[in-house]
Amino acid sequence: MAGYSDLPYRLIAREMGSAVSFTEFSPAVTVTHKPVQEQKRIVFHESERPVIVQLFGNEPAQFVRAALYLAETDFRPEGIDINMGCSVQRVSSRGSGAGLLKNIPLAARIASELVKLNLFAISAKIRLGWDDASKNYLEVATALESEGVRTVSVHARTKSQGYKGSADWDAIGEVAQKVKIPVFGNGDLQSHEDAQTRIRQHRLRGALIGRAAMGNPWIFLGKNKSDMALSERLPTIRRHLSLMADFYGSAMAARLFRKHLTAYLSDLDISPQLRSKLFSAVTAEGLRSCLAEDCFSDYE
Ligand SMILES: Cc1cc2nc3c(=O)[nH]c(=O)nc-3n(C[C@H](O)[C@H](O)[C@H](O)COP(=O)(O)O)c2cc1C
Repeated sequence: MAGYSDLPYRLIAREMGSAVSFTEFSPAVTVTHKPVQEQKRIVFHESERPVIVQLFGNEPAQFVRAALYLAETDFRPEGIDINMGCSVQRVSSRGSGAGLLKNIPLAARIASELVKLNLFAISAKIRLGWDDASKNYLEVATALESEGVRTVSVHARTKSQGYKGSADWDAIGEVAQKVKIPVFGNGDLQSHEDAQTRIRQHRLRGALIGRAAMGNPWIFLGKNKSDMALSERLPTIRRHLSLMADFYGSAMAARLFRKHLTAYLSDLDISPQLRSKLFSAVTAEGLRSCLAEDCFSDYE
């Protein structure tokens, strides 16, 4: 997830039991612009394998150039995932992300050209369609399967829905029945148990947990965050911050960590004084000292 599932977060998630790392989506067209190791959105750690690098774009050549570049630089994720789900206007209105749902022949060409390279396992993440009147998930999944895509993940909403309404898990079940390749379901999962139930119910290969994992990597362990005392959470929160400081440098980590911290503490009634101390730290070290046990002594 863009802005959340970067390398530091994914390492934490993996320690907690996540099964696969998907990188944040990255424009296929910019992959060739600089050394892979400098591309924060796509670098990964060996311990994360299997890793799927997710790319978005609207031209087969962009994806092919990106895949060749990755392979040439000996950057070897297990797979490349084609983003066909992003609903953000500046992406989807240009025919990328969920925009590809409106152009199945183009999506199929992107898939087929990537598959033909025989460099990475190719997968795709789709939505149910552009809008209610054009739900084409079965057609999209079938087309991708026939081009040799290895797995398909389905976020069970349309592009027009954005994140509104509820995910239609029956539609995910229909996809799983229709295609032979493994299907991953996605949308509104709130717990590990929830994911297991859906996987069993719809005979899926797995499930993807999105927003419920923000500030809650324990979800991958099957632990209920609301049952965890703050003292139990703090070591992970501090480790997350340290990993971010290593990855981004101290000042940027302090800034980027705020949204994670908001999510980590969202269910707690934090005093305005502590909140302002936490959210005004400008270095990771400063923030780390605010995250000391004694600052939170009132919150047990
Ligand atoms: C902030 C944010 C960033 C996201 N970034 C990505 C992304 O880079 N790639 C992707 O496939 N989906 C992305 N998504 C969509 C989620 O992966 C997921 O499909 C969606 O949130 C529905 O699942 P959920 O109900 O479990 O959150 C993002 C969602 C959010 C809220």
